[in-house]
Amino acid sequence: MGFDNDLIRFLETKRTYRKFKQDPIPGDALRAILTAGQLYSSGGNRQGIKYVVVNKPEDVMVVNNFVKWAAYLPPEQGTPGPSEIPVMFIAVVQDTSVGPASDTEAGLAIGNMQFAAWACGVGSCIMGAIDRPKLMSYLKIPEDMLLHSMIAFGYPLKEARPVEFNGDLKYYLDDGGNTCVPKRPIDEIYRFL
Ligand SMILES: Cc1cc2nc3c(=O)[nH]c(=O)nc-3n(C[C@H](O)[C@H](O)[C@H](O)COP(=O)(O)O)c2cc1C
Repeated sequence: MGFDNDLIRFLETKRTYRKFKQDPIPGDALRAILTAGQLYSSGGNRQGIKYVVVNKPEDVMVVNNFVKWAAYLPPEQGTPGPSEIPVMFIAVVQDTSVGPASDTEAGLAIGNMQFAAWACGVGSCIMGAIDRPKLMSYLKIPEDMLLHSMIAFGYPLKEARPVEFNGDLKYYLDDGGNTCVPKRPIDEIYRFL
């Protein structure tokens, strides 16, 4: 989208992915994702973010019933079919017993995991539209912890790319089923004092 260096090209393709091959995530990629979730910056270095990894197919199938995909797309376009669901979810949990783990910290931890995953070719989707009570129960998350979000992972079946913003923020699929994500222009979102 204009500026060209390796990191920017990486960030352009590190989009949200919602339909996945059913290949499992290999051990080295999984270790990279988990390590990235350890290495985020944290206020007072409290590190109050905890995780529940869901990667057994039968558990993934259950958890997939408790998340909502792609609010801007009709289900036949935005919701993965049974052979397109993620192969792993990670629950991001704020552990209140070690002090206030903020949403900022959750976001940094999630970003780290998404970057590490994408560096291994694994796509992901942050899921905030989730059935928290059902997930807390299924994942056995203690009541004094907060389920921040679920992150879905897998090798993408389709591509995704940022596109020019033409007044409509809704992402859409192109003719090949690849996701196009409008991004507001640089001069709209920055102001130099
Ligand atoms: C906090 C947050 C919550 C989100 N929740 C959902 C969700 O519940 N379901 C979903 O399909 N996508 C969800 N997304 C993905 C967004 O729709 C996506 O980030 C947005 O459309 C921009 O696309 P991009 O990530 O490729 O830039 C969420 C993203 C964020 C940051």
